[in-house]
Amino acid sequence: MLSSLIMKILGIETSCDETACAVVANGNTLLSNVVFSSIDQHVAYGGVVPEIAARSHIEAMTPVIKQALSDAKCSWGDIDGIAVTYGAGLGGSLLIGVITARTLAISKQLPLYACNHVEGHIYANFLTSGATPAVNDYKMRGEQPEFPMLGVIVSGGHTQLVLWKDHFDYQLLGRTRDDAVGEAFDKVAKIIGLPYPGGPSISQKAKQGNANSYELPKAKLSNPYEFSYSGLKTAVLRLAQKEVGEDYSFPSFKLAERLSDAQKANIAASFQRIAIETLVDKAALAYEEYQPRSVVIGGGVASSQELRKQLSERLPLPISYPDARLCTDNAAMIATLGCFQAAQKRPTADPYSLSIQPNLSM
Ligand code: KG4
Ligand code: ZN
Repeated sequence: MLSSLIMKILGIETSCDETACAVVANGNTLLSNVVFSSIDQHVAYGGVVPEIAARSHIEAMTPVIKQALSDAKCSWGDIDGIAVTYGAGLGGSLLIGVITARTLAISKQLPLYACNHVEGHIYANFLTSGATPAVNDYKMRGEQPEFPMLGVIVSGGHTQLVLWKDHFDYQLLGRTRDDAVGEAFDKVAKIIGLPYPGGPSISQKAKQGNANSYELPKAKLSNPYEFSYSGLKTAVLRLAQKEVGEDYSFPSFKLAERLSDAQKANIAASFQRIAIETLVDKAALAYEEYQPRSVVIGGGVASSQELRKQLSERLPLPISYPDARLCTDNAAMIATLGCFQAAQKRPTADPYSLSIQPNLSM
């Protein structure tokens, strides 16, 4: 818990294609959450184009910050600090958020908190519904999670299991060696001709399919908490080739037009089952070994209904999920993490020199 001091932190997040700004009070109260996504500009390319994302951040940053302050009914005088994502993410995108935050910290004479994007995803779980009167249509947990806390971080860029003993005292149990789970959804969607982002489009298509139509492999690794999704993606590619009667030399971009709707739905459902089962197997194993008092999920894949269903079947404790708008990239999670950094008197970042770390890990 934070001290009784009321503290308002403005968060800025620009690690990928979302330009986001939010104001959070006391580490539990969401006052505003503004997200502008440039996703429409990337759809035609089947993935985020870094140059387009960076240009869009430049245009969107100022209006998004203005809106977040106005929604929170705050002026700069009400803000106690600025939190910004400095990694991991796309270099050009991160740079715009970090330079903006540094400039604001200097000109408004506010402390600057440098936040890890991946850690931030978990902090969306510390926002509570009872403490949040201003944004009351958000679905959030009633109470903050207790420690020890097992974090399952599942997004387009990250897949990892982390055990927190307390704030800022954590142990990385394992992460992916290659593709992230969300990335696997995006790549498989491309193979079977579904729109980007792949997570939502595969979930939708999977509803019409049979999840047991095809046997797909689960990676076996020496560290039971490590992940690998590239083999599963390749297995889907080989399966699609086999279904249309071609071999590996057939261009993958031509597969989708040769697959029937039923084949696509069955591939989507079978892939989704295995991709999610892999996550749940490892989360259940970590739960047994470490007996955490809470399990929290963060990242875009947390909105997967299949993940929620399988976790509720396999874990003996109920899990609450942040509102979908707090699962995908947002700045509320960064502002929340910044609140805890401020409350625990963590070192602030130097606004004259904070640099981005695109490959930052936990
Ligand atoms: O956390 P996020 O917004 O961005 C990153 O930090 O990567 O996550 C985006 C990822 C995408 O790969 C998207 O396909 C995936 O989350 N995603 C889903 C679902 N909704 C979004 N994956 C599976 N099922 C979903 N319902
Ligand atoms: Zn993310």
